Amino acid sequence: MQSFDEKDARTRRAARTIGRREFLRAALASTGLAAAHLSGETLSGIGHFAPGLIGLRSLTGPSEGSTISANTSAVTSNADFFIRNHFTTPRINEEKWTLEVGGMVEKPVKLSYSDILLASSERRHVTLECAGNLSGGAGVSTSVWSGLPLQMLLKQAVVQPGASTVIFHGADGGEGDGAPAGTHFARAIPIEKAMDASTLLAYEMNGAPLPPEHGFPLRALVSGWYGMDSVKWLRRIEVSNEPFKGYFQQERYVALKSNGQREIISRMRVNSKFVRPLIEEEIRGREYRIEGFAWAGENKVAKVELRFDGGAWQAATLRDSATTLLWTAWSYEWTTPRAGQHVIEVRATDDAGNSQPLARDPDRKDDYELNTPHRISVKVG
Ligand code: MTE
Repeated sequence: MQSFDEKDARTRRAARTIGRREFLRAALASTGLAAAHLSGETLSGIGHFAPGLIGLRSLTGPSEGSTISANTSAVTSNADFFIRNHFTTPRINEEKWTLEVGGMVEKPVKLSYSDILLASSERRHVTLECAGNLSGGAGVSTSVWSGLPLQMLLKQAVVQPGASTVIFHGADGGEGDGAPAGTHFARAIPIEKAMDASTLLAYEMNGAPLPPEHGFPLRALVSGWYGMDSVKWLRRIEVSNEPFKGYFQQERYVALKSNGQREIISRMRVNSKFVRPLIEEEIRGREYRIEGFAWAGENKVAKVELRFDGGAWQAATLRDSATTLLWTAWSYEWTTPRAGQHVIEVRATDDAGNSQPLARDPDRKDDYELNTPHRISVKVG
């Protein structure tokens, strides 16, 4: 658990950094430089991550078990955003930190933290899910991210013809979590996704500098793809024309088939979860509003359905029209049945017609992309 002192220090640092950014922006705006600068816990006892994945804070966000009110934007606070780290959090001094963009580029780039803060930025609501999140687990959260589009930086560096891959290198490493000695966290994405406008280099979450455990000073945000590609504590971006052979690319985060075939995991699958009621919650009264979220990565959620005690699937109401990359709140007005124990399940379908499968693909030998319906048991009093 985080101590108050740590939190306090974080808040002070956030204030300091934001102040400096405003100062830098103002100084450069007056000389007309700013815009041009870059042209150059468990939920009642169930785990949240697949077995074998360790080193994370599992959380019950404040939204869990409480109502998603009509005026909340369904954003997770920074303190409640799930954390998944393979190694210990590197502490980075922003004065000394630099980001290098190299490999197959005509003009390698080296940027300081100030350069990053001064680049024209974008703000996007994006939902991030860990590939090892369990059905209904807390390994999914949403933030308002601010950062610069990666394509801007790649255009500045001038990518050479034939480049196919962009590798994100993180500053964290060691022997932890099964990795061979000397491994650092790194992941690669195809050049097309790197050049997509939705791929950001994010330096803020919900208007505050990235908290240390979420990648301060800069992280990738590969929107719509499982969390492992959103590499934190970025120090180098490498453009290449070869498949990346890093440990976390080849040995982890791969789909293993029973015939030994391995496939890279990338796009988030359609998924959903309950926010209320909680598992084993005792419900009183004849009317109860069931609520939750559904998400579908690069697709949109088209429908959410619930079933009670294995009966027929019934449509829930989506709160807003669904958008890509962001979860959608849904609700269902439940006229409660007889007193006693009941099982409720939720499943979503995306606009490409993919529904959450009722059972895990028996051909899968890994523990990633688990998206069978979230199933909870509740007691009606
Ligand atoms: N980046 C680095 N450098 N090291 C890591 O261990 N974990 C990845 C990704 N980026 C990781 C990383 C995984 S598996 C996930 S799910 C997301 O970060 C989690 O991001 P969060 O901890 O900010 O929620």
